[in-house]
Amino acid sequence: MPPESPRLAVVCNDVRSEVRAAHAAQRLQCALLCDVDPKRLQDLDFVLLYDEQGLSIQETGAKAPGPVRAEFITGAVGHRYRFGGGKGQQIAKAVGVKAGVYPHLLDLTAGLGRDGFVLASLGCRVTLVERSLPVWLLLEDGLQRARQMAEESELQRVLERIELIAMDGLQYLNGLVEPPDVVYLDPMFPERHKSAEVKKEMRAFHQLVGRDDDADDLLLSALGQARYRVVVKRPRKAPLLAQRAPSYQLSGKTTRFDVYALRKLPEQWPEPAASKTACTTE
Ligand SMILES: C[S@@+](CC[C@H](N)C(=O)[O-])C[C@H]1O[C@@H](n2cnc3c(N)ncnc32)[C@H](O)[C@@H]1O
Repeated sequence: MPPESPRLAVVCNDVRSEVRAAHAAQRLQCALLCDVDPKRLQDLDFVLLYDEQGLSIQETGAKAPGPVRAEFITGAVGHRYRFGGGKGQQIAKAVGVKAGVYPHLLDLTAGLGRDGFVLASLGCRVTLVERSLPVWLLLEDGLQRARQMAEESELQRVLERIELIAMDGLQYLNGLVEPPDVVYLDPMFPERHKSAEVKKEMRAFHQLVGRDDDADDLLLSALGQARYRVVVKRPRKAPLLAQRAPSYQLSGKTTRFDVYALRKLPEQWPEPAASKTACTTE
């Protein structure tokens, strides 16, 4: 959670988004400003900016880095979707996706939805849970824009597999009736994003969300609920969550996956179905 609440407002610079912007400001209980340049705003830390390119989080001030939005078709995520390593990627191996095996993934730390989208594109049904309302709004906007832009039916099917929930992950786990196949956790860690550009752009995101100090509890609860496995993504040298040793680890250059295998995944799975609900709020 953020150490102290950042000073935030919603800015609407796109007439088509006025209703959504007003709704967002109401939910966030913050000011709504129209037709202003975020770089000129001095007494705010960030704004949630609605413009022709969708919703982004933008740091204020003259030297502010670029905006951050949830992107699925363009940018790095879109590139990975078109040219990524498919089921050979470490994330796929960690979750256990392979031909014929498509576990339902419960991602309790959705963030900007990049990992969840990769796993949906590999065939998994994915439930994304995000507790930070500004981040949830970014994610909802990114998914909505992707659905509008998706021209090919394969991409539409990927997006149909994604369900989005605005809730705390622990609360969501406590209310579950059916156990999820795989729970995925990628809590915030202070020293990630080494590249200068990424670091600068993600500063607003990091300050907004803060540290995820309850990540240990999330792991312990997930271990009691998941059907087959729990997967935790961590920076390569970060300590284990809850000091719990995983069954095994998959390490890359900067990241590692701690895999807690609870039961063997079945060899065959029913064809992945589309999620029933596209977006759900608390
Ligand atoms: C590092 S980001 C996840 C990035 C994500 N894996 C991606 O690919 O974009 C962590 C996110 O988890 C969210 N989060 C942390 N703990 C949570 C919890 N208990 N319930 C719901 N969301 C949580 C934070 O608000 C933050 O947005």
